[in-house]
Parts: sequence; structure tokens; C-alpha cells
Amino acid sequence: MSSQPLIDIARSLVGTGKGLLAIDESNATCDKRFAKLGIPQTMEARRRYRELIITTAGLGQDISGIILYDETIRQQKNDGVSFLDVLSSAGIIAGIKVDTGAKELAGFPGEKITEGLDGLRDRLREYFNMGARFAKWRAVVAIDDRRPSRGCIEANAHALARYAALCQEAGLVPVVEPEVLMDGDHTLERCREVTAECLRAVFDQLHGQRVLLEGMILKPNMVLAGLTCPQQESSTEVALATVKCLLEVVPAAVPGIAFLSGGQSGKLASARLNAMHTRSESMPSPLPWALTFSFGRAIQQPALGIWSGEEMHRGAAQAALLHRAQCNRAARRGEYGVAMELP
Ligand code: G3H
Repeated sequence: MSSQPLIDIARSLVGTGKGLLAIDESNATCDKRFAKLGIPQTMEARRRYRELIITTAGLGQDISGIILYDETIRQQKNDGVSFLDVLSSAGIIAGIKVDTGAKELAGFPGEKITEGLDGLRDRLREYFNMGARFAKWRAVVAIDDRRPSRGCIEANAHALARYAALCQEAGLVPVVEPEVLMDGDHTLERCREVTAECLRAVFDQLHGQRVLLEGMILKPNMVLAGLTCPQQESSTEVALATVKCLLEVVPAAVPGIAFLSGGQSGKLASARLNAMHTRSESMPSPLPWALTFSFGRAIQQPALGIWSGEEMHRGAAQAALLHRAQCNRAARRGEYGVAMELP
């Protein structure tokens, strides 16, 4: 297939000043979040929640693409209109999570390998025919005194590259997500080292599998100290460390980098993205790729808490969702600030 459609889709996703919204939690993850709020863990509750999100008026102003889960991409609104038609009317490109989850990596206790390559070609064809135009695969890499191992980094990088090549064959833009987890007390410097090593391995494998860099999007973690590390750097320091690390390892041919939020609060994720776009003497500029967001929790969390399964809170939940999307779009321009946060 010609590469131009892939390049065009990738540019539409990242080159418009907007970002991505991930609502691709597996049923198990979604149910876990519902359980904490006392929301019934049923297919109908998940459908109602996702309907609330995608029908938020004006979401297409800030969000270029939404990543769905297999259950969600097949669902309809209450009135029978398919979710895919809702997205298309809102000018939002539909994406789909296609990995089948991270499982124990044999021989590497405590480390994970993401699965889902078997039968992937057929699933991708089906999703393309349904209307999806991009896909996502997440690999997870944990940090502690012994981890990550080289074996874990290489196995995951290879799987990401095989997935990306299959996506491009099917006409879907691959979002390549090697996530270095925030759990732990490691320093920012350690996260930088591990992130750089993982990304080097990923681009090596992408090259080996002949993936068209112009037709993909990278979805990395920001370079951050672990959640329980006593020293937490400022947003400016995080932004600088992240951008420098990416400049060392991400080829300029990649059109866009869309960060995951990984457990950061919505406000912090916006502030750190904003700091990457705030011009200062220390911040390298211009950058070769678009730097945007592909947040899940950092956009959804307040809305989910407000909704809590009650239809009477639907409007307020949608307002909270739209607000976080607007904050992140502003952050892409370096125009986000505390003044944007609701009292
Ligand atoms: O794979 C992870 C999601 O696409 C992004 O979720 O922003 O909550 O980390 P997150």
C-alpha cells in the first residue's frame, strides 16, 4: 500500500495543535476504576460511560483522535447511532488498542511482555474495514535495582516493531507505546537512562522491521522521578530532561510524540507538557517533531469521579472532561497556566 495515506493520518493526528484521548482501558482495568467509585462493573455501565465521553460537545476542537477498546468500537449510543459514526461526525479519528495485555515474561521474574501478535493481521483488517485509522500497542518496563533487563527491553521492542509493521501493512498508523513505569523510588536520572535505552532499542527494531517512521506516532512516558522518590523535579526540569532525552534518540522523521500520562495528575501532566512548549533559553527549539498528549487518566479522571455512574451528573462530567482537553490543547501552545484551573 502507498505510504502517503499513513503519513497524512499521522499528520492529522499530531499536526493540528490537538492531541489524543485514550479511552482504551481493557474491561478489567475499567471495572477496577468503576469498583473504586461504586459504579456497577457491567458492559452497559462501560457503554454509558464511553457514550458520555464521546458525545461531549466540542471535544473535536481539542482532540484529534480517540483510542477505543475492542468492546467499545463495536458499541452504539442509546439511540442506536454507532460510536464510530459519533466520532466521525465530531471530526475525531478513531483508533483502537490492539495488544492483548502485558503478561509475565518467561525467564525474567517480575518483568512483562506484551502479547497480541497472533492473529493480529486479521484483527487489523477488520478494524480498518470498520473505520479505525490508527492503533495502539503498549509495552511496560518497570524500574528497580535489578530491572529492567536487556531481555525485557529487547523482547518488547521487537513486539512493538512487529505490531507497527503489521499496522502499516493494514493502513493503520501505529502508535508505539513503550512505557517506563512511574512506580518506585528511582530518580529522574535513572528514568532518563532507562527511557533512552528503551527508545534506542525500539527504533533499532522499527528500523529492522522496515517501519515507515513518517507514518507512526511515538507514545512515550515523560522523564520523571519515580512516584515515591523524595526528590521531585519541577515541571521545567521534567520538561527539559524529557525533551533532551527524546532529542538524543527519536529520529526527526517521526512526525509526532504523544505522551502517556502514566498516573500523573491531570494538572501536573498539563503543566509539564506546557513547560515543553514554553520558550526559554535552556529549552531546545525548534523541535523536529510535534509534541502532544495521548492521555487517559489525566483527561478522564475528574470526569469519571463526577459522573460516578449517575446520569444526573452527566453534564458536569462532560464539562470536566472538556476542560482537561482544553487545558492540554493550551499546553501544546505553551499557554496553559493555573489560571485555567477551575476554583
Ligand atoms: O496505555 C495507556 C493509555 O493509552 C494512556 O493512559 O494516560 O492513563 O497512562 P494514561
